[in-house]
Amino acid sequence: MKILVTGGAGFIGGNFVHYMIHKYPEDEIVNLDLLTYAGNLETLKAVEDKPNYKFVKGDIADREFVFALFEREKFDVVINFAAESHVDRSIKNPGIFVQTNVMGTVVLLDAAKTYGVKRFHQVSTDEVYGDLPLDRPDLFFTESTPLHTSSPYSSSKASADLFVMAYHRTFGLPVTISRCSNNYGPYQFPEKLIPLIISRALDNEELPVYGKGENVRDWLHVEDHCAAIDLIVRNGRVGEVYNIGGHNERTNLEVVKTILHALGKPESLIRYVTDRPGHDMRYAIDPTKMETELGWKPKYVFDTGIQQTINWYLENKEWWEHIISGEYSQYFEKMYGDKL
Ligand code: NAD
Ligand code: TYD
Repeated sequence: MKILVTGGAGFIGGNFVHYMIHKYPEDEIVNLDLLTYAGNLETLKAVEDKPNYKFVKGDIADREFVFALFEREKFDVVINFAAESHVDRSIKNPGIFVQTNVMGTVVLLDAAKTYGVKRFHQVSTDEVYGDLPLDRPDLFFTESTPLHTSSPYSSSKASADLFVMAYHRTFGLPVTISRCSNNYGPYQFPEKLIPLIISRALDNEELPVYGKGENVRDWLHVEDHCAAIDLIVRNGRVGEVYNIGGHNERTNLEVVKTILHALGKPESLIRYVTDRPGHDMRYAIDPTKMETELGWKPKYVFDTGIQQTINWYLENKEWWEHIISGEYSQYFEKMYGDKL
């Protein structure tokens, strides 16, 4: 099988490439990535010489380029991870989220329709469902929860999902969509909460917590997400949406304190800063469909996964130090300069 993975130089796509190259040496993986600020080929060092792996630099929204790639490579499967993925960036600059997440997905759908694929899988997010109130812990997102987005990021992802479904109904494209909760694990770019807290705490720097830190996220280890996507692509039903999550809800403050405790750092590093505009209160996934239909079960609970992740950041300082010493330091100054 020849698989196009887009966004494979990012956090989840990179972990997915590692997962697939080792699990299926008989399959070929082509990784198409634009190498934006979030793309990092250092993540792929261990696989770059594998005979079943190839990297191609390019933009999923570049129609001519994408069509030429499909014509040349004749993919069996497309798995679309490529996206602008950071809510805070989408608040500063929504346009690029429309360009990559919506227009880019439509270009890939058009190419898949023109050249034919056995499966087009769209990697989406639970954020398309909006948020849940903190005082209703009995509520969870199911696959039939209405789309109700809050941020430019989630709105662009929901739009892409609607196009994916439209290409199934209108053109018969064999699609699936997965909507996963917040991921954590190795190779996550250090502007997202968990790697940001680990890297800054290790450097004894102030830790920005938005608002009161009471927002709840449902954390899933990236390896469990990769295994779920693999199962959906191989055994999932065409035209279906699958929610992915492992019932690991934590407030942001709990997450930050867990990391500080594990690193032996003081809670006095925490700084409460101005809240994110439109900040979603709680995300929580009901994964019953994944579990009953596809037999998926996560390997990690948060307490073991976070420890493994902290260890990874401790053992791979070079990977994230390269990032935070570069262009990223200007980003941090721009986003947090007047907050800390
Ligand atoms: P990321 O920002 O770490 O990686 C995104 C990758 O896409 C980068 O390598 C970047 O270079 C590439 N990219 C960006 N624009 C591109 C373009 N126009 N053409 C080609 N490549 C481009 O993101 P991530 O956290 O790995 O998320 C991957 C996917 O999973 C996204 O679609 C995101 O919406 C979804 N998702 C993420 C989470 C999470 O917690 N991180 C949870 C659920 C779903
Ligand atoms: P993030 O990792 O950006 O993921 P998402 O917004 O997609 O859920 O943020 C996770 C949570 O952490 C979210 O509620 C916002 C909060 N947060 C902070 O409190 N401080 C920070 O510096 C960042 C980046 C996030």
